[in-house]
Amino acid sequence: MKILTLDEKGRGVGPEGLHVSFAYPGDEVEAILINRRKKTGRLVKLIEGSPNRQTPPCPYFGRCGGCPWQGLKYKTQLQFKEARIKTLFGDCQPIIPSPDEYGYRNRMDYAFGPEHTLGLKDDRDNIIDLDRCLLASARSNELLARLRQFSVRHDLKEYDRGQGLLRHVVIREGLNIKNAVLNVITSNLGEFPLETLWEELKGNVEGITWSVNLSPADRSYGDLQATLGQDYLLESLLDLKFKVPVQSFFQTNTRQAERLLQVIKDFAGLQGGEMVFDLYAGTGSIGLSLADRAREVIGLEENEAAVALSRANAELNGLKNFTSLAGRVEAVIASLGKKPEIVILDPPRPGLHKKVIQELGKIGAPKIVYASCNPTTQQVDVAGLTAFGYQIKQSQPLDMFPHTPHIENVILLVKRS
Ligand SMILES: C[S@@+](CC[C@H](N)C(=O)[O-])C[C@H]1O[C@@H](n2cnc3c(N)ncnc32)[C@H](O)[C@@H]1O
Repeated sequence: MKILTLDEKGRGVGPEGLHVSFAYPGDEVEAILINRRKKTGRLVKLIEGSPNRQTPPCPYFGRCGGCPWQGLKYKTQLQFKEARIKTLFGDCQPIIPSPDEYGYRNRMDYAFGPEHTLGLKDDRDNIIDLDRCLLASARSNELLARLRQFSVRHDLKEYDRGQGLLRHVVIREGLNIKNAVLNVITSNLGEFPLETLWEELKGNVEGITWSVNLSPADRSYGDLQATLGQDYLLESLLDLKFKVPVQSFFQTNTRQAERLLQVIKDFAGLQGGEMVFDLYAGTGSIGLSLADRAREVIGLEENEAAVALSRANAELNGLKNFTSLAGRVEAVIASLGKKPEIVILDPPRPGLHKKVIQELGKIGAPKIVYASCNPTTQQVDVAGLTAFGYQIKQSQPLDMFPHTPHIENVILLVKRS
């Protein structure tokens, strides 16, 4: 079967609509049907590879689902991403490649498995015992190895169906500010030897947190128990400092996050007298990076911990014109009763609530800068905003995640007068 195109998840699609992971347009493949309803197949044999293929450098490629596009030349990955934005929005600026093709992730979430295995999961939820991940730094990979050795030496068992201790570990490191912190997540079936791990690693990490996940959900998040050393990551973006609590969200590709902020700043084009709404503000990285050129920035975010953090980071950077409010955008936006000159949008993957589009229409800010990690929902929202007189002025895709199909896209909308 010839692979003709790619779906939204980056899988190859054949002539009868079969979706096959690790297959790319131009490939001639043999695939077997694995789910008739979802029309998904598994690649069995590559009969003839597309000329855009490359030999994936990662030995786990094909098993680990982390980098489904590693078999494609980076230039081709970028072409596919840019073409998708052009299909959705008509035109765009050339995509901004990631400054680093590998080693770009500042956060890795690993799971513990049977017999002291530690790594990422395959599509059947089996742990792949990773020697190293090419998306992580050398320091992060060294910590991965040391954590595995620690579990062997102290004979700590993985948690599985009501037995055992170790569940996940999150390794986070700053790039612009050199520091690293760990969060070890366990079950509640025993005491994690936090002090012993700290004694062994304290020359290599700035802090270690122990958390307990009581839920059956297989997630790398838990109730905080204890920390030795730093319980936050320190990082800077465009000269702004951020203190990120060990369990809070932060952009994972530090260098590309700086470019993303720069694009948003350029699109906003602040002169100094404007009021800015930063909607879906998270920890405030966008709003804070605009504050020095604005009269006032108001962040709105539903997660109270993130709101508290954005306020603390405003203080850390001496930014007095940034305020942050907790609440759902669709519930709170109408009651703000303010008329911003610029609205920044950075919603989660499902995009904007219909009420938010209606309210933005009523507010009628001259400029909207819309950053999205899901261009499909972004397109629906932008179409909704055009009904209120907005038109696309610029569209700038960026590659935050090489070797994956994810695309970040920033759109500048202006209101027709
Ligand atoms: C893509 S992240 C934005 C990150 C943020 N701009 C930053 O730089 O940290 C989306 C954010 O929207 C928040 N969120 C999701 N649904 C929301 C809603 N209905 N109202 C307000 N915030 C929401 C999430 O908690 C998350 O922090």
